[in-house]
Amino acid sequence: MSLNIGPYKLRSHLLLAPMAGITDKPYREICQYFGAGLTYSEMISSDLSLLKTRKTQNRLLQSSEPEPRTVQILGTDPRVMAESAQFNQSIGANIIDINMGCPAKKVCSKAAGSALMKEPKLVKEILNHVVKAVSIPVTLKIRTGWETKHRNALEIAKIAEDCGISLLSIHGRTRKQAYTGFAEFETIRQIKQAIDIPIIANGDIYCAEDAKFILKYTQADGLMLGRITRGQPWVFEEISNALNHQKNDPKHKSPISLETKKIIILKHLRGIHKHYEDKQAVCIARKHIGWYLSNLINWDENLLKSIRTEIFSITVAEKQYQKLEEILIILITKRLSATL
Ligand SMILES: Cc1cc2nc3c(=O)[nH]c(=O)nc-3n(C[C@H](O)[C@H](O)[C@H](O)COP(=O)(O)O)c2cc1C
Repeated sequence: MSLNIGPYKLRSHLLLAPMAGITDKPYREICQYFGAGLTYSEMISSDLSLLKTRKTQNRLLQSSEPEPRTVQILGTDPRVMAESAQFNQSIGANIIDINMGCPAKKVCSKAAGSALMKEPKLVKEILNHVVKAVSIPVTLKIRTGWETKHRNALEIAKIAEDCGISLLSIHGRTRKQAYTGFAEFETIRQIKQAIDIPIIANGDIYCAEDAKFILKYTQADGLMLGRITRGQPWVFEEISNALNHQKNDPKHKSPISLETKKIIILKHLRGIHKHYEDKQAVCIARKHIGWYLSNLINWDENLLKSIRTEIFSITVAEKQYQKLEEILIILITKRLSATL
């Protein structure tokens, strides 16, 4: 199954979902290592006056990142968004993604993110302006609609196709649902049948069986993985192996070893420590450490809690690294001795 965005042939049809506060450069690198076909920057405001803020600076793509580099922009004003797209192209973005999927109140009160789906005319204006402003592919991420009674994703998808959008990803929830309930895939299936641009299905994909079912049901061209990747970025490789190999092939289920996980986790931690200044780095690393630890083994809850408390109390990057390395070595040694 091959998936192209403009001139870019993606190496996998499993994409990393944009997640503000998570999919920074160090995280994207780790997911790319495990085979993510495309990664997105965390969303960046299209307001260029915010460029100097530390938050935006940390989120900008860097030309050292592998192609295709995709930046996600957020905004409401077609001209401002077009300027933002041009700026991001000028600093090395290969693909511009437009966020019409974010349900956050902070975003929706300004009618950006998924609130835009309520205004198809404005959507058309934004897409036309952005597509015309740049010479690189523009993609769009949406939800199924504003609320259950107003599932207008198909209407928005047709506008997107007419405006020259190169790929459309759809989270199978409405804005009102936020992250509650379950994602539905019927709307995505209908969109896939109705339009010709590549369609990516997103929402509640937690294992290879989910991935297989959703691909078959929607006939989507690819899948986008979000929360499942936290603390286990190797799911890209595991799900890809399961999709690409028959059940009787040993490669179908080839779990990543604890030793490899240890190396990757520590590499990720070094990446975070390098990307942010010391204090911020230690805070950002804590949430990833928490996710990694709870995913690694079946813990006794109290033990996990006390280990977390200990490592979360550390405020210096190098000490945080040493402590995590120590914990991982103990985990691996214990696991090995238990299997002897
Ligand atoms: C912490 C967090 C931050 C997110 N930030 C963004 C974002 O910046 N842009 C966006 O389009 N979607 C964002 N999303 C939505 C995800 O891209 C994705 O659509 C959603 O999590 C559903 O996929 P999942 O069930 O695989 O997690 C975010 C989700 C989470 C959990």
